[in-house]
Amino acid sequence: MRKVIVHIRELVGIQPEGVRRLAGSQMDRTGVLQDAWLLVEDGRIADFGSGKAPEAQEVIDAAGGMVLPAFCDSHTHIVYAGSREGEFLDKINGLSYEEIARRGGGILNSADLLARTDGQELLRQARSRLDEVISKGTGAIEIKSGYGLSTEGELKSLEVIDHLKKEAPALVRSTFLGAHAVGRGYTQAAYVELVCREMMPLAAPLADFVDVFCDEGFFTPEETARILEAGARYGLRPKIHANELAVSGGVQVGVSHRALSVDHLERTTDAEIEALRGTDTMPVMLPGASFFLNMPYGRAKDYIAAGLPLALASDYNPGSSPSGDMRFVMALGCIKMRLTPVQAFNAVTLNGACAMGVEDQVGSITRGKLANLLITRPLPSLTAIPYHYQTPFLAHVLLRGEEI
Ligand code: NIG
Ligand code: FE
Repeated sequence: MRKVIVHIRELVGIQPEGVRRLAGSQMDRTGVLQDAWLLVEDGRIADFGSGKAPEAQEVIDAAGGMVLPAFCDSHTHIVYAGSREGEFLDKINGLSYEEIARRGGGILNSADLLARTDGQELLRQARSRLDEVISKGTGAIEIKSGYGLSTEGELKSLEVIDHLKKEAPALVRSTFLGAHAVGRGYTQAAYVELVCREMMPLAAPLADFVDVFCDEGFFTPEETARILEAGARYGLRPKIHANELAVSGGVQVGVSHRALSVDHLERTTDAEIEALRGTDTMPVMLPGASFFLNMPYGRAKDYIAAGLPLALASDYNPGSSPSGDMRFVMALGCIKMRLTPVQAFNAVTLNGACAMGVEDQVGSITRGKLANLLITRPLPSLTAIPYHYQTPFLAHVLLRGEEI
């Protein structure tokens, strides 16, 4: 089946085949073609060009809008039950994220709710969050477990993700985050044992990656190393939570275990930037969490000036970022982290794809990649997307070539 998109004022995000990620000054550019067409064949980008469009069975009129690759959100926790609106009030009244967690709220609160929710209901809730973000332009997404905190709860969560992977039009990757917090009733040491010995072998067949919340009050670098080594025995590459609450050593332990990405990074010194230089590990920042928790924003500009790549993701979760809107993430990247719109665009597309190991399939306009595409309303430029950060900008979302 051939479809052609015509009257594209600007086709944005073109990359030659084989470009996996953009680092340093490469983030200042992206390939653009004016007055373009794009041909989709069997759900993939078959060709594109400018001038006269080729014939096809179906024609989609972009009506002078732009066409971009769909967003690639490399860090989310959308498998959770209910919400944490009560804690929202605690936060408004001045309690910090750490104080809420110490009182037994936070992640443990979500784990209690998840334990009382059956798999079908959990799937229904996660699916509705996924549908929501797809309608906002997300075409590839990583989803973590981590609100089970028991063998049963973690497997229930991973099964939900597996379901979404099979049924959703978006490309889904799955991460086992048993070490999100210490489950109720366990000592820290007993819980780390449980994650490594009991959960890991059962979780691994359902997961693409392993994650640990390596931060003050959660898991130490030594515990993180043990868990990552247990994951490596099952072929799971790490994507870890590091340096959200403190300079935790998480970046270094991630890099030394060949992490695909190290995420959060709100609190980093030059040592973390140095540790990432010359490695394959993608730094991922989550400005939605900084926004919601009133935390510092990551030093995005410094990372890029040091020649590193950078991805931005939503962190969609009930405690620190109850939104999966990648356009808003892009706007926060520009407004709060001083990224240029093109840098922010590269951070939410190709570099996001690379942070979840799917850069060969999505994240840019490249022949052979999935036709996960956003067709915008007529816009003066790419800058309008983060600038008018709440004005509806999407006209159509196509995933695997099909309109959503
Ligand atoms: O990425 N930091 C750890 N995990 C989540 C928050 C989890 C929660 O509070 O429910 C995050 O911010
Ligand atoms: Fe997270």
